[in-house]
Amino acid sequence: MAILIRKKPGIKSSEITPKSVYLDRRKFMKHSLATSVLLATDAMLPAWAKKWPDLADSKYSTKDTPSTFEEITTYNNFYEFGTGKEDPAKNAVNFDAKPWSITVEGECSKPGTFDLEDFIQPYALQDYIYRLRCVEGWSMVIPWVGFSLADMLKTFEPNSKAKYVEFTTLYDKSRMPGQKRRVLNWPYVEGLRIDEAMNELPIMAVGLYGDMLPNQNGAPIRLVVPWKYGFKSIKSIVKIRFTETQPKTTWNEAAPKEYGFYSNVNPDVDHPRWSQKKERRIGEPFWKPKIDTVLFNGYGDQVAHLYQGMDLVKNF
Ligand code: MTE
Repeated sequence: MAILIRKKPGIKSSEITPKSVYLDRRKFMKHSLATSVLLATDAMLPAWAKKWPDLADSKYSTKDTPSTFEEITTYNNFYEFGTGKEDPAKNAVNFDAKPWSITVEGECSKPGTFDLEDFIQPYALQDYIYRLRCVEGWSMVIPWVGFSLADMLKTFEPNSKAKYVEFTTLYDKSRMPGQKRRVLNWPYVEGLRIDEAMNELPIMAVGLYGDMLPNQNGAPIRLVVPWKYGFKSIKSIVKIRFTETQPKTTWNEAAPKEYGFYSNVNPDVDHPRWSQKKERRIGEPFWKPKIDTVLFNGYGDQVAHLYQGMDLVKNF
C-alpha cells in the first residue's frame, strides 16, 4: 500500500518541524493523492489509514525537535536494499509491500496468519516521537505512527514458556535485491526478552510523519525499541514467534563480540572498534560538537528496572 501513495514531499525540509506542520504536510499529501490520476483515491486506502489525521501524541514522545522527513528517508540502514546509507531510498522504490501477512507462532494460545489490515485493526494508533540511536554513532528523532507492541502481543496470549519474542523480516530475493548478496545471514532476525517486549515503550510502527511508512524505513510494519541501538528495530516484519530460548539474532550471529543480544544504548560500553560516548544528530552541521549519549537513550525511567542485577558490560 505504501508504494501507491509514494510521492516526493512538496514541503521544504526546513519547514518540517513538530506536529502542527507535519499534520499540514499530511493534508498536503492527501490533496496530492486526490488530484493525481496515477495515485490511489481515498477509497483505496485501508480503513486504519483513514484514521490518521486525528492521532493523539503518546505521553512518551520526546520534546526533541524531529529530524526532517528527508533526513529520515534518505539516510537509512536496510541491508535488504543495499549496505550504503543512500541505497535503501533508491533501491526500495519499487518494493511492493502488498499484500502483506504476518504469522504469529510459538508459545501462545492464539497463533495464526493475518492480513496486515486485520492484524493492525484492533490497536490504537498514536504518534510517538522517539529518538533512534544507531550503534554507528548517529541519531535521529523520528515521529512514528504506531501502536503498543505489548497490547499486540497480549492478544495472542503468550503462555508461561514464552520467555522471548523473535521477529523476522521478509525473505524474498526478487523483492529485496540486497538479499542476493550474503552480507548477512538472511532473513534478518531480532529478538527481545518477554518483559522488554511487554514494556510500555516499544511500538510496531506503520507510519512516520503522519503518513504510511516509506519502503526504506521498513514498510509496511516494523519494530521500534527506543532504548536500544537501532539495529534491534527490525523492519518489514512477516513473523513473530514466542520462544522459550533466546533467539539467534542476525547481528549477534554475524559479529558476536560487537553486537550483543541486549544492545541497550550505553555510553559506558564501547563498541570494540569505537567509543559509544557521543553521537551525531543527523542534520547537525559537522563543525558542531557531537552530543553526549545517554544511558538507555534517555528512557531509563521506563526501562532501567528491567536490567536490575544484570552486568550490562557482560550483557551488552
Ligand atoms: N531491519 C532489517 N530488516 N534490515 C536492516 O538492515 N537495519 C537496522 C534497523 N532495522 C536493518 C533493520 C539498523 S542497523 C538501523 S540503525 C535501523 O533499522 C535504521 O532504521 P531507519 O533506516 O528507519 O532509520
